[in-house]
Amino acid sequence: MILITGASGFVGRNLVRRLNPRSNVRCLVRKSSDTAGLEGCELVEGDITDPGSLLEATKGVEAVIHLVAAFGASTYRENYDVHVSGAKNLVAACKSNGVRRIVVASTVATLAERKSDYGTTKAMADEIFAQSGLDVTILKPDFIYGKDGRGFNTLVNVIRGGKMIPIPGDGAYRRQPVHIDDVCRVFFRALSEKAIGKTYVVASREPIEFNRMVDMIMAKLGISKRKVHLPVWLLLLAAKAMKLKKNPKLTQTVILGIAQDRIEDVTPMIRELGVNPISFEEGLEKSL
Ligand SMILES: NC(=O)c1ccc[n+]([C@@H]2O[C@H](COP(=O)([O-])OP(=O)(O)OC[C@H]3O[C@@H](n4cnc5c(N)ncnc54)[C@H](OP(=O)(O)O)[C@@H]3O)[C@@H](O)[C@H]2O)c1
Repeated sequence: MILITGASGFVGRNLVRRLNPRSNVRCLVRKSSDTAGLEGCELVEGDITDPGSLLEATKGVEAVIHLVAAFGASTYRENYDVHVSGAKNLVAACKSNGVRRIVVASTVATLAERKSDYGTTKAMADEIFAQSGLDVTILKPDFIYGKDGRGFNTLVNVIRGGKMIPIPGDGAYRRQPVHIDDVCRVFFRALSEKAIGKTYVVASREPIEFNRMVDMIMAKLGISKRKVHLPVWLLLLAAKAMKLKKNPKLTQTVILGIAQDRIEDVTPMIRELGVNPISFEEGLEKSL
């Protein structure tokens, strides 16, 4: 039996879609989770912040794929509770039930020079898993996109929607967006024994400027609009002002997640896990 936490999210649903039969897949879901697409799996209700529910969820499990994240959180506390306390709770539950194998979804935000609360607390969680004594593999994806990706769809809607396209900062920072199909391959291969104790960056090969990513999406949609560059400090200020709102549109996680230059080495992912990521150009063909 494999337990997937965060199964109702973008990555989780895509992993489950590729599994058949699903009788040996257990999904940790919340009362409020949309469980469409998880049919055939065993659903266990719980919360990563509730140790008791994790004790139940990890019973009889051979491996855990841990995907839970508080991506929409706007406060440090929310990020800490889900990522850091969640990691402690999951490690304790695994130890109680003799579960040794965990594949953890981390993020390249943990490697950023200027970390958001999301990046900081995900890095703290990585450390908890790495020090747990369990058989852990940590995966650090860059921006994941695909047909049903929330972040990707938001970007496409922003490009489609207004007269102009708002870009945080100069947009000259580079990213290595990775298609969901490649991400799923990496997760499955990371369950192999040779990946134990390893950390992999999960990204496409070629860094692309954010401005160019936007241009490529526009070209694919057959539209041409002017980009307006907004100062990062101003956007961070606006995000701070929205902090107390429920589901704020703009968060520090998103701004710092986008507007930082990063170049990642994906050689270990290609060589050791055998996943050759497709380019953003090919990925857009599949996604739009
Ligand atoms: N998407 C990306 O671009 C990207 C990039 C780098 C790293 N990652 C990492 O990859 C993993 C999966 O990302 P994703 O895009 O699939 O995220 P997502 O769509 O936001 O899904 C998050 C999942 O976590 C669950 N969750 C949140 N709080 C929870 C709690 N307190 N208890 C139990 N479950 C809870 C959500 O459940 P509900 O359905 O009930 O809300 C959902 O299933 C995350 O760890 C993320 O940090 C993602």
